[in-house]
Amino acid sequence: MTKKTIKAIDALQDAQKIAFAPFIFQTAVSLKKLGVFTQIFEKGKEGACILTLSSELALSKYGLGVLLEIAESTGMVARNESDNYELTKLGYFLNYDKTVEVNMNFTNDVCYKGLFHLTEAVKTGKPAGLKEFGDWNTIYEGLSQLDSQVQKSWFEFDHHYSDYVFSEALEVVFRDKPSMIFDIGGNTGKFALQCVEYDEAVRVKIIDLPGQLDKAVNLIRDRGFTRRISGLELNWLDDDPVIPGGADVIWMSQFLDCFSEEEILKILKICVKAMDEDSTLIINETYTDRQKFDNAKFVLEATSLYFTALANGNSKMYTSRELITLVELAGLKIVEDRKLGEFHTLLVCKKA
Ligand SMILES: C[S@@+](CC[C@H](N)C(=O)[O-])C[C@H]1O[C@@H](n2cnc3c(N)ncnc32)[C@H](O)[C@@H]1O
Repeated sequence: MTKKTIKAIDALQDAQKIAFAPFIFQTAVSLKKLGVFTQIFEKGKEGACILTLSSELALSKYGLGVLLEIAESTGMVARNESDNYELTKLGYFLNYDKTVEVNMNFTNDVCYKGLFHLTEAVKTGKPAGLKEFGDWNTIYEGLSQLDSQVQKSWFEFDHHYSDYVFSEALEVVFRDKPSMIFDIGGNTGKFALQCVEYDEAVRVKIIDLPGQLDKAVNLIRDRGFTRRISGLELNWLDDDPVIPGGADVIWMSQFLDCFSEEEILKILKICVKAMDEDSTLIINETYTDRQKFDNAKFVLEATSLYFTALANGNSKMYTSRELITLVELAGLKIVEDRKLGEFHTLLVCKKA
């Protein structure tokens, strides 16, 4: 982005908004959690006065007052001619937009406390904020032990950004009728289950850390697919990880962004060793340089800071250029590079 001309008074206002950003964020969280946004919205054009809100929501006039004052200054609510509060478009999105909700819960429940340690994380290359939750090297080692509300927000964030493209991706994955798929970083088994429902003969091996595999195994047992979906425990950060051969398709969705560039290269080279001329490796990712809208790029850049402060200290949401370079260095060639849904890109690769 080129440098824009902006009046000093506006720049100062923006600087103050950043200086008090956590206050504004927590105000939005409170207004949503306390039902104030909903209550105001339901009053429509007539709007809501503070005394009515106070009695309807059983909240003090003082508490509502401090929240609504800053909410008005930051454009979440506005006053109409009767001096009643109405919800603005910004307030509407904060309360009703599903993606904003998932991002807000992720920020509040998973990232908020850990982000306090961002400076230390950048200096040390370690996820310094993770100590707010436990004593692990990466968040993935501790994911299944996190508090249930933290897990809920983490999984909702993760699923929100990949689930909806899975059905479109299946057409590409099944084009050459694979009989064995490895789902690397298969997490709770959602993609594996879609595969076995899509094709009645295919078998899937989920490769992931023990905590996530346990969750997946339970879900797969409940759905009656234990004969066709198996699990393999593997930590890619161990000294010498190996995967078996035999996969027609190796699928990696939102997985490589959990690793540094050096680690990605190592992982891809290990996969190449397990591939033959007919195997296909498919990477599903969201790239910062492939987004149509600035707000999608912004969400990805913010997500990078979650990796820095909490997840592992050394990974990020990559540009397509960065990832394609690593794919080629690992000994793969890209045979198809296609858009998936609004935000994702599929890279279909073969051995070079
Ligand atoms: C962001 S989730 C992606 C889940 C799923 N593939 C999707 O598209 O929604 C990343 C997955 O990679 C796994 N993972 C992260 N670090 C790992 C490691 N060092 N070894 C093995 N798996 C790892 C995590 O456990 C998690 O299931």
